[in-house]
Amino acid sequence: MILKSLSTSPAFKKLQLHRQQMHHMGLQISHLFDQQPARFNDYSIAAAGLFLDYSKNQITEETMALLIELAQQREVEGQRAAMFAGEKINFTENRAVLHTALRAPRGHATVVDGVDVNSEVHAVLDRMEAFVGKVHSGEWRGASGLVITDVVNIGIGGSDLGPKMVSRALRCYAHPGIRSHFVSNVDGHALDAVLNQPGAELNPATTLFIISSKTFTTAETMLNAHSARNWFLRQFKEADLPRHFVAVSSNLDAAGKFGIASENCFGFWDWVGGRYSLWSAIGLPIALASGFAHFRALLDGAHAMDEHFHHAPLAKNMPVLLALIGIWNRDFLDYESISVAAYHQDLSAFPSYLQQLDMESNGKCIDHQGLPVDVPTGPIIWGDVGTNAQHAYFQLLHQGSNITPVDFIATLTPQHQLPGHHLLLLANCFAQSQALMKGKSALQVKEEMQAQGIDELQINQLIPHRTFKGNRPSNTILLDELTPMRLGALISLYEHKVAVQGFCWGINSFDQWGVELGKFLAKSIEADLRAPATSEVQDSSTAGLIALARAAKVS
Ligand code: F6P
Repeated sequence: MILKSLSTSPAFKKLQLHRQQMHHMGLQISHLFDQQPARFNDYSIAAAGLFLDYSKNQITEETMALLIELAQQREVEGQRAAMFAGEKINFTENRAVLHTALRAPRGHATVVDGVDVNSEVHAVLDRMEAFVGKVHSGEWRGASGLVITDVVNIGIGGSDLGPKMVSRALRCYAHPGIRSHFVSNVDGHALDAVLNQPGAELNPATTLFIISSKTFTTAETMLNAHSARNWFLRQFKEADLPRHFVAVSSNLDAAGKFGIASENCFGFWDWVGGRYSLWSAIGLPIALASGFAHFRALLDGAHAMDEHFHHAPLAKNMPVLLALIGIWNRDFLDYESISVAAYHQDLSAFPSYLQQLDMESNGKCIDHQGLPVDVPTGPIIWGDVGTNAQHAYFQLLHQGSNITPVDFIATLTPQHQLPGHHLLLLANCFAQSQALMKGKSALQVKEEMQAQGIDELQINQLIPHRTFKGNRPSNTILLDELTPMRLGALISLYEHKVAVQGFCWGINSFDQWGVELGKFLAKSIEADLRAPATSEVQDSSTAGLIALARAAKVS
């Protein structure tokens, strides 16, 4: 679908004008709440067990109407239909984008290149289920007859961030007999910390490695996989490898060449992007950590959100609304980043997962015609868990010179029995969005200090420091509880948000050419580090750094 640049669409121009009018009027979110008593009801939506409150944004009825018009002019509905139908919308790689097919129920036909992918998807899920069942029951044993106690996933990017985030988020569902570990970084400290942590060394006899790589060529994963293999072979023989090494890949030939038996390989397809792959066999570590029934519930939750996204009208569509608010904040209010504050300790890996999902998808500025996109695209994503983040970087969110919209994520019900904690957690979460929105005026600060008996001179000195401008936007996403179903829906919500933004900006959200150059250059620098002298192709900075590393005898 070829679209002209976003800025040429009539709705975009109307939104620019609307933005100017708002600016002249000095519009404040808190005033909008005063004027619109039902604002919370008007600007909130429930879907797939999630609740989104987007009322604390700088939006009016007119803003939302124009944003929906923009989405219509950008043919979001047509592009959404093309995605679900398996059209090759990842046109730079000539691939369909069908992670939604990975969580579709059995019998929910989707045809790609004449093949019904649903039966292939469920065949792999069934194999995964059988394998997980054997490991959990102890039927699958290591080469010396001991049951598996530790599962180490070796993968990077989408072959790590998704499964790691979900495994941690589903901590309360963890299978009691399995400890999960994730190694992604090529930095040997990462693998060493998992294998050889003093006092918690892994036992090769009870360890299962999952080598997870869509391409099975990623340098970091291959080196970690070889090092893990060597570590294993210090105590065992080659013939013992099949009991301890399995692979997940769409390149089963390469997995075979690495030495992984074909019956221990779980495949997936080129129409699954790396950052969208946790629903495929890349989710094997999740299923081993949490049980297969919970993995299926995760898929079901995502499917519920898929159904909502696929069928709900644009104005009542949670991912579409979240996406359009993001576009409003990015392209009209010029906010460059989004901070994600997850008020659930078990979602500690969610911000870094979201970084890849959003920034690898929409960190692009070339449109479908190969022309530069003339408006800002993907925002910078960063964040941490609340309340820790409040005591780290929230100062900047409240009083810094950049305005950063925040996505607050919280659950209504905790999964622990500790009295008082959850209430205080939620009080903090809601207070932060309120503080960002309302701010605190100089008059309020003055009256407060006068009531405390502070002298006038000090009051006047402190007023500017203790004043908050407010009017800082946020969304709040509530889940009843962090169950596998709700987590699946939450991830799917963000996947579709990112897709809709890409549709509007006219970029291909499903390739990632930007990561290739660094990979390519690393090869030439690696060769130079191994060589006795640096080649002439290096600039003087790089050559100087290489010389220092060589002098340190880096191996
Ligand atoms: O960083 C680029 C990338 O291709 C990601 O998109 C992907 O998730 C990651 O590398 C890992 O790739 P693979 O699963 O092929 O090892």
